[in-house]
Amino acid sequence: MLSSTKAVAAGFLISGILSNAEAQYYKIDSKDAIKTTASTIAYDLMLLYEGNRTGQIPGILPGPPSENKGNYYWWQGGAMMGTYIDYWHLTGDTSYNDVVMQGILHQVGENKDFMPRNHTASLGNDDQGFWGMTAMLAAENRFPDPPEDKPQWLALAQAVWATQADPSRHDSYCNGGLRWQIPFSNAGYDYKNTIANGCFFNIGSRLARYTKNETYAKFAEETWDWIWNVGYIDHESWLVYDGGRVPFNCTDINKATFSYNAAILTQGAAFMYNYTDGEKKWGDRVDNLLDSLIKNFFRDGAAFEVPCEGTQGICTADMITFKGYVHRWLSVVAQIVPHTAEKILPVLQTSAQAAVNQCTGRETGRTCGFYWSGGKFVDPSVDKTTGAGEYMSALAAVSSLLIKDAKPPTTNLTGGTSKGSPNGGFAGGDNGQRPPKPITTADRAGAGIMTLMLAFGAVATFVWMSFMDR
Ligand SMILES: *[C@@H]1O[C@H](CO)[C@@H](O)[C@H](O)[C@H]1NC(C)=O
Ligand SMILES: *[C@@H]1O[C@H](CO)[C@@H](O)[C@H](O)[C@H]1NC(C)=O
Ligand SMILES: *[C@@H]1O[C@H](CO)[C@@H](O)[C@H](O)[C@H]1NC(C)=O
Ligand SMILES: *[C@@H]1O[C@H](CO)[C@@H](O)[C@H](O)[C@H]1NC(C)=O
Ligand SMILES: *[C@@H]1O[C@H](CO)[C@@H](O)[C@H](O)[C@H]1NC(C)=O
Ligand SMILES: *[C@@H]1O[C@H](CO)[C@@H](O)[C@H](O)[C@H]1NC(C)=O
Repeated sequence: MLSSTKAVAAGFLISGILSNAEAQYYKIDSKDAIKTTASTIAYDLMLLYEGNRTGQIPGILPGPPSENKGNYYWWQGGAMMGTYIDYWHLTGDTSYNDVVMQGILHQVGENKDFMPRNHTASLGNDDQGFWGMTAMLAAENRFPDPPEDKPQWLALAQAVWATQADPSRHDSYCNGGLRWQIPFSNAGYDYKNTIANGCFFNIGSRLARYTKNETYAKFAEETWDWIWNVGYIDHESWLVYDGGRVPFNCTDINKATFSYNAAILTQGAAFMYNYTDGEKKWGDRVDNLLDSLIKNFFRDGAAFEVPCEGTQGICTADMITFKGYVHRWLSVVAQIVPHTAEKILPVLQTSAQAAVNQCTGRETGRTCGFYWSGGKFVDPSVDKTTGAGEYMSALAAVSSLLIKDAKPPTTNLTGGTSKGSPNGGFAGGDNGQRPPKPITTADRAGAGIMTLMLAFGAVATFVWMSFMDR
C-alpha cells in the first residue's frame, strides 16, 4: 500500500505486479523459508479454531451455518485436522499434535465410525469420508497413536469403509453407487455424486495398499467402474463431473467440475497403481486424470476453482477449501507414482507461490485470501467466511512443497504402527439411515451442499440462490 502510494505520488506508472511484489510478506524460496511461512500460516489458522477453548466442542470449526453458529460444516473440521497432520509430517512441527488428536477423537461418534449423532443433519458419505481419510492419513503418516483405550487410526478408517461398504448403503438405482446423504430423510438423499463415491474409492484404495487385504481393492475397483460407467468421468476429456439424481437414473449429470472431485479420484487411482505394483490400467488412469486436472484447474499457474471463482463472492466456504486438497493429494501422487513427480511438482510450486503472493491482507499484512491467480489480496469477508478455508488451502500449498523430503505413506509392512480391526467395530445393524430425531429441511447441509443446489439448476441459478440466502 504505502510503497505504491509513494510511487504514484512520485509520478511513476506502477504495475500491479510490482506493487504486489513489494508488499509481499511470505517467502518460500528455501526450505527454511517454507517452514517459517507454513508455521506462521498454521498459527494464524489455529486462531480461528475454537475447539480447544473451554466450553467449546473439540474437532469442529465454528458452525454449522444451518444453525447460525458459524460458516463451517462438520466435515471441514475433519479436513482441517488432516491438513495439520500433513503439516506435522512435512515440517516436523509438533505444536498442534495434541490439539489435533483431541479434536479427532472427540468426533469419532458413539460407534467409533465418524457418525456422531450431533451431526446427523449434515451426514453425507462424503462428510463421514473426509474424517475417514484424515484417520487413514494419521495411520499412513505415523501420526502419534492414540492411548490404547481409545479408537486407533487404522480401525477408524476401516470402520468408515465398513459402514460404506455395507449393503445397507447400496441399492440398484443407477446401477449402484453410494448416495450422497446417509439418512434417507436428508435432502440430497436422491443424489448420487462423485465426491461420496470418491471418498469411498480413496479410502478403499489406501486401505488396500496399507493392509494388503484384497477385499478393499475389489470394492475400490468396483467403485471406479461405477463412476466411469455412469459417465461422471468424461470419456474424452477426463473432466470429472459432480453427480446425477436417482429419479433420472443418474443421467441428468450435473457437469460442474469441482477440483476436489478430480483430485480425489487421481489420488485413489494412484494408490491402486502403487498397490498393484504398477498395473498399466491404473497408471493410464492416473496420467489421464492428472493431465486433465493440470490443464483445467490452474490459471496463470495458480490453482483455480472453475465453477465459481470467476465471480468474486460466490464460492461457498466449502469450495474455498478445495485448492488445499488438490495440493495435498497431488503431492502424495508424486510420491507413489514416481513418474508423475516431474509433471506435478513444478505446477504445485508455481501455484504455492501464487498462493502466498496474495497473503498480504489486513493489519498483520499476511492474511490470506482465496483468489490466487489474481495476485492481489481479496478479503475473505467478500466470500462471507472467516478465512479458515483460505488459510487451510494456503497452508496445504506451502507445506506440500516439502514433499520431496517427506516419507511416503507407510503401510503395515513399511513402518505403519496403527492397529486395525477389520470392520473397525462396525457389525451391521443401524447404519445411520435412520435419523434419531426428525430432520427438517432447514437441516440440510454438508460437504457437498452446493452439489445439491447445482443439481437443481444451472450454475447461474445456484449463484443467485446463494446470494439470496445470505
Ligand atoms: C489451543 O491450542 C492452541 C494451539 O496449540 C494453544 O495456543 C492454546 O493455548 C490452546 N488453548 C487452550 C485453552 O488449551
Ligand atoms: C454434541 O453436542 C453437545 C452439546 O453441544 C456437545 O457437548 C458435544 O461435545 C457434541 N459432540 C460432538 C461429537 O460434536
Ligand atoms: C440406468 O443407467 C445404467 C447405466 O448407468 C444402465 O445400465 C441402465 O440400463 C439404466 N436403467 C434404466 C432403467 O434406464
Ligand atoms: C510405490 O510407492 C513407493 C513409495 O512409497 C515407491 O518407492 C514405489 O516405486 C511405488 N511403486 C510403483 C510401482 O511405482
Ligand atoms: C500387520 O501385519 C502383521 C503381519 O502380517 C500382522 O500380524 C498384523 O496383525 C498386521 N497389523 C495390522 C494392523 O493389520
Ligand atoms: C479383509 O477385509 C475384509 C473387509 O473388512 C474383512 O472382512 C476380512 O476379514 C479381511 N481379511 C483379512 C485376511 O484380514
